[in-house]
Amino acid sequence: MPDPFMSSPDAVSPASIPQRTLANGQKMPAIGLGTFGSDHVSAQTIAEAVYDAVHLGYRHIDCATVYGNEAEIGGAFARLFSEGLQREELWVTSKVWNNCHDDVLGSCERSLKALRLDYLNLFLVHWPFPNHHPPGCDVSVRNPNAVPYRHEDYMRTWRQMEDLVDRGLVRNIGTSNMTIPKMELLLRDARTRPVANEMELHPHFQQPQFFAWLKEHGIEPIGFSPIGSPARPERDRTPEDTAPTEDPVIRSIAEKRGVHPAVICIQWAIQRGQTPIPFSTTRRNYLANLRSAIAEPLSADEMQAIAAIDRNCRLIKGQVFLWRDNQNWEDLWDLNGEIAPE
Ligand SMILES: NC(=O)c1ccc[n+]([C@@H]2O[C@H](COP(=O)([O-])OP(=O)(O)OC[C@H]3O[C@@H](n4cnc5c(N)ncnc54)[C@H](OP(=O)(O)O)[C@@H]3O)[C@@H](O)[C@H]2O)c1
Repeated sequence: MPDPFMSSPDAVSPASIPQRTLANGQKMPAIGLGTFGSDHVSAQTIAEAVYDAVHLGYRHIDCATVYGNEAEIGGAFARLFSEGLQREELWVTSKVWNNCHDDVLGSCERSLKALRLDYLNLFLVHWPFPNHHPPGCDVSVRNPNAVPYRHEDYMRTWRQMEDLVDRGLVRNIGTSNMTIPKMELLLRDARTRPVANEMELHPHFQQPQFFAWLKEHGIEPIGFSPIGSPARPERDRTPEDTAPTEDPVIRSIAEKRGVHPAVICIQWAIQRGQTPIPFSTTRRNYLANLRSAIAEPLSADEMQAIAAIDRNCRLIKGQVFLWRDNQNWEDLWDLNGEIAPE
């Protein structure tokens, strides 16, 4: 019987996609599909892209409660399973949002129900702060109940994450938007270690120190906004922001290979050793991103040239999570190696 998931002539065999081996031996595909529509792509459009992307060979989907589309994506999964896709072939990540740090079990159960799954491969604490805000609000909005990072609160949330592993609802747990000082405390106190940390990573924001630290500690870096999030909302832009897809080094490599600069950002990410999760609902683009995983490798010179264009330019700054007036977004990121004081 022909494989219904390889019916498209341009599909990529999932067996040819590199896999990351996690600290516990489980395997995660080294490229995933992002599903955050940045407020302008509908849930249905994203679910259709997920359905089609799996037919093209994607086996890793990055979801989150706060993206507001898990029910639609669950519909796509149900269709794929009814066509013969096996649950074990798919890697699905979801995340607990900041308003559920005290109800991790409830959040996970709601995600599982919406996604129509009986387990998740990976569940992340989306941000290390319990601070939340109305969807789509301006970056200057502050929640009057916002608080700084408090390790005892984070550990209360982490204990609930560990409990999900014990219950078999999730296979792995991990973190997102963390820093080295916060991770050090977590590793000191965790019973079940995080297998991955999801973080902004692209050629203009390479986080070399944190990247190396994670690799040394057996924690997989999953890279969000790997193309530099070109369609992020206006409220998430500042005049200092730069675009990796406009960098002359990326553009010249892309030109030589006859691909879009975005594709070089993805290929560099996979080859460097992180797991990019590019968002796309344009078939040509999400196919090109996947194909970069099996393309002729970038040369050592090209990899070095890209390493040299890091601009330490964080695009997703998280301003809405600040807890005091007159703070800078840098206060969220422990830049001097210490957790910011209250
Ligand atoms: N953990 C966190 O806090 C966090 C934060 C941000 C994002 N994320 C995750 O990371 C995912 C990706 O990040 P992102 O959505 O911010 O940005 P991104 O993946 O860097 O950029 C997505 C944009 O790039 C375009 N694009 C994709 N492939 C392309 C190609 N080959 N050629 C040209 N354009 C291309 C897409 O347009 P088309 O649709 O037209 O292709 C889309 O507008 C999110 O969807 C989400 O799952 C997680």
